Amino acid sequence: MKINVFELERIQSMYENKVAYNFTETGVYPYTLKELFSPEELEELLSQRLGYGHTNGDPGLREAIARLYPRAEAGNVLVTNGSAEANFIAIWSLLEPGDELVLMLPNYMQIWGLTHSFGARVRPFHLIEEMNWGPSLEQLKEQVNPRTKMIAVCNPNNPTGAVLSEIEMRWVFKLAEQVGAWVYADEVYRGAELDGNETPSFYGHSDYKKVIVSGGFSKAYGLPGIRLGWLVGPFDAIARCWGYRDYTTISTGIVSQWVAQRVLQPEIREKVLNRNRARLKDNLNVLQQWIGKYKGLFSFIPPRAGALAFIKHHLPIKSREFVTRLRVERDVFVIDGDCFGMEGYLRIGFGMEKEYLKAGLARIEEFLKDIT
Ligand SMILES: Cc1ncc(COP(=O)(O)O)c(C=O)c1O
Repeated sequence: MKINVFELERIQSMYENKVAYNFTETGVYPYTLKELFSPEELEELLSQRLGYGHTNGDPGLREAIARLYPRAEAGNVLVTNGSAEANFIAIWSLLEPGDELVLMLPNYMQIWGLTHSFGARVRPFHLIEEMNWGPSLEQLKEQVNPRTKMIAVCNPNNPTGAVLSEIEMRWVFKLAEQVGAWVYADEVYRGAELDGNETPSFYGHSDYKKVIVSGGFSKAYGLPGIRLGWLVGPFDAIARCWGYRDYTTISTGIVSQWVAQRVLQPEIREKVLNRNRARLKDNLNVLQQWIGKYKGLFSFIPPRAGALAFIKHHLPIKSREFVTRLRVERDVFVIDGDCFGMEGYLRIGFGMEKEYLKAGLARIEEFLKDIT
């Protein structure tokens, strides 16, 4: 099967570990095991037997994940290798060639690429910058039709950090219900809200039951290295997804599941998310002050959630040339809007350590002097 290149991931994979300042990171600065757990707990981790375990996820972990959603229980949960695998399995199992998927754009382009590769059609609806990155409901209504198999959103959104309002969520449910389509929400940024108000999940939020959502530990929790994510949906859909997962990775790692289950204990979860939100707020402040110095060059709607700033630029060069030269000449790596089909934008991750952020911004500043 031919696939579309996942440009964003390919470009990141090529350079993220080679540059001095990697601003393409999409989550919060990761934890170490030592920061998370006491020596006694780590002893317990060391004595874990490294079998396959439960291939759909440890029952205790699935229960802990279910508690994050209204009216969910362990049977509604499939534990996956990152939310990337969750997205893959959901799209692979729910879409057939010829189906149509109505997709929020801009977006993490995984679902876009997979849908094309599986022979289904993508009909986009856009988040509009002039509407504070709110969705064009007109366009959403136009795109939904009887062939629509799924409406897929990324909420909170990568790359804009926008969060759908209650009314906008209601529209998604209503339009999906009119044609019997799935609502699919990639909610991996849930928990990374800068104001601390957790984004409501699409799962369990309406009487409409054809809803499936993905989540994971890589963004809000600052734990991308455990590669742990999940799907939450109706029993039969989750059982079907489990069958598809038999063909991908069979199960998730025992060590990762051990970490995940403990991090979801309410007091640890709160501590982890609070630390991460505090970092995001602090760093966003630094970034906004920096952008403020360049009013003519950049305009920016701050994210409501997440660790990403999607910035419009008015530079004398194209975004792709900017990021390539910035990387080669100043060793700082950011993502250009082209990766989202949006020339004229730059995406800067700001979830890292504050001094690192400041030092990288200083280098971008030097580069700006060279080109303006
Ligand atoms: C919106 C979104 N979904 C899914 C993923 C995949 O993340 P992971 O598999 O690390 O959970 C990413 C990664 O950047 C993302 O931004």
